[in-house]
Amino acid sequence: MKSIKDFSVIGKRVLVRCDFNVPLDEKGNISDDFRIKQALPTIKYLIDSKAKIILMSHLGEPGGKVVEELKLDKIAEKIAEYVKFPIGKEDDCIGPDIEAESNKLDAGKILLLENLRFHKEETDNDQNFAKKLSYLGDIYVNDAFGVCHRDQASVTGVPQNLPSCAGLLLEKEIESLDRVMKYPEKPMVAIIGGAKVETKSKFIDNISQNADYVIISGLIAKEILSLTNFESWQEYLNYCEEVNSKLVRDEEKNIQLKYPEKIIVPSGDLGALDINDESIKIFQEKIATAKTILWNGPFGKFEDKKYAKGTLAIAKAIIDSKAFSVVGGGETVEFLNKQDMIDKFSHVSTGGGAMLSYLSGEILPGIEALE
Ligand code: 3PG
Repeated sequence: MKSIKDFSVIGKRVLVRCDFNVPLDEKGNISDDFRIKQALPTIKYLIDSKAKIILMSHLGEPGGKVVEELKLDKIAEKIAEYVKFPIGKEDDCIGPDIEAESNKLDAGKILLLENLRFHKEETDNDQNFAKKLSYLGDIYVNDAFGVCHRDQASVTGVPQNLPSCAGLLLEKEIESLDRVMKYPEKPMVAIIGGAKVETKSKFIDNISQNADYVIISGLIAKEILSLTNFESWQEYLNYCEEVNSKLVRDEEKNIQLKYPEKIIVPSGDLGALDINDESIKIFQEKIATAKTILWNGPFGKFEDKKYAKGTLAIAKAIIDSKAFSVVGGGETVEFLNKQDMIDKFSHVSTGGGAMLSYLSGEILPGIEALE
């Protein structure tokens, strides 16, 4: 995979796919600009290298039509604030007028295209639409790790038409996640919170290959039990060990963890609104021994201050451990941002679904398209 630094970008139109899919509040204001900030190193590198910078992104799920609240004007304002000069903002993302604007752009200046998903062709991965986007650049940069699991026009279509490379953020994401997934310094502890076990069981199994301990939330454990019809967690672990030793997959009981001996679940009621003190202590002890930590997903009803004690204790234990720490997932990042802790981790991933897919061992189409 080529890096942005492998190209001479001076005076060239560089079309950058960013992930500015940021959370908005009820008034349509950006409530967390973490993803915008993370895109700045590539943008600043291109400014300093005197490239003509054309940025593109999606925001939300407008479903192929213009949705006023999902226009990217507020994002343009935020970028302008960070780069400290005004930037251009288009009303669409394709067409001859925008092509003309891209050609007129001065070196070191920025143009932001309108929400890509106002065109249904983006999510349909329409090749004609991808071509029209490609007319806007001489070089394509993918800096949108968060959408690399999507086979969509701006992610996998455009790189078929232009010389392509990874941006600085995408490179950092891959490097950090590989350091956790492929060659972690041991002991390694993975902490997987939240719910939705369907999207996480592959991730739990894949990460368990290298992790020494895998702490999972009560909610995930509870979901596993309800899907498999076991009464207790211990009973379920015994079952996994037994079927694994026979080297068979039990199709009927559908969720069969490969490394049950590494899994730790909170004690007490699995559906509790927060983890209890006993569990916090056990988790803290494991975390304190770790040299590498991966954390995705908060615990319990963390959004209510009353029940945030467990998630906060996990965050603090990770920071105190001084281990190489990678954190990701929208809710976790939002939580850490509110606590003003985001800078205390070695790497905070911008990917939600993309991070889970990558750490599940899947090949992400957006990364594959650059190879
Ligand atoms: C995300 O928020 O995870 C990315 O921006 C991808 O968004 P999507 O799930 O709507 O494709």
